[in-house]
Amino acid sequence: MQTGQASRTAYAAARYRAAHQVLEHGSIFRDPLALKILGHEPDELLADAPRRGMRMFIAARHRFAEDHLAAAVSRGVRTAVVLGAGLDTFAYRNPHPSLTVLEIDHPDTQAWKRERLAETGITIPENMRYVGVDFEHEKLELDLDGPAFFLWMGVVPYLTIEAFTETLSFISEGTGNEVVFDYAQDPERMSAERRAALEARAARVAKIGEPWLTFFDPTEIAERLVGLGFGEIEDLGPSGLAARFFNRPDVPPETPGGHVLHTRHP
Ligand SMILES: C[S@@+](CC[C@H](N)C(=O)[O-])C[C@H]1O[C@@H](n2cnc3c(N)ncnc32)[C@H](O)[C@@H]1O
Repeated sequence: MQTGQASRTAYAAARYRAAHQVLEHGSIFRDPLALKILGHEPDELLADAPRRGMRMFIAARHRFAEDHLAAAVSRGVRTAVVLGAGLDTFAYRNPHPSLTVLEIDHPDTQAWKRERLAETGITIPENMRYVGVDFEHEKLELDLDGPAFFLWMGVVPYLTIEAFTETLSFISEGTGNEVVFDYAQDPERMSAERRAALEARAARVAKIGEPWLTFFDPTEIAERLVGLGFGEIEDLGPSGLAARFFNRPDVPPETPGGHVLHTRHP
């Protein structure tokens, strides 16, 4: 991220969620505030329409996360922490009366989000609060009362491995804490065609000052999680996501691409 400027990839991710509401009518992930927080007309989103793969990945990762969160709430979790929240709207349409939401983000992105909320007339609920943190330069410190559910979407690739590890270690300190995050696979291990597509996307985000810094392979991330005491890992890559959300059981298991993962610290 560039200091002094709100995250531009946060705006891009929000556009994909809004476009999904317009083009697929929220068939995978319904977010009635996705368009409102942007303040755009539906027609203005159609420029992103060709990038269907990324749009559907983003829709699936949020659906996966909010399904797991609902299960956690039914087990008694009372706090959700949205890390690197960007223009995520969960806090403003939180369907769980017992759940308090903390939004953590880089202070520059958070200030911009609060302007967007004010401009678009989205009410800030009483059961939420904001914490500004730069993961690269500050330790995450939250006073949590009981187990919490962390939603960490679209952030890990933009962090250094040190900032990622530091934040994950913090999450691992709380008994019963859960986390959902997505990660990108190492392009070195992909076919030339897929690597070229990924590198083109990486070049686009690097150009706007938010390069991808951290990649994992499923075995490597699983080892790191187990090393920190996490268990019950559910990691869906292209094959698992296609089967669960897109009625496509035919995608080969080892297909490389974006992954989304849920795990719990017992
Ligand atoms: C691609 S956006 C994703 C936003 C949101 N989670 C979503 O899914 O739409 C990346 C987010 O990570 C945050 N971020 C990136 N680097 C950060 C850092 N060093 N400290 C805090 N937040 C950071 C940005 O401010 C931004 O909100």
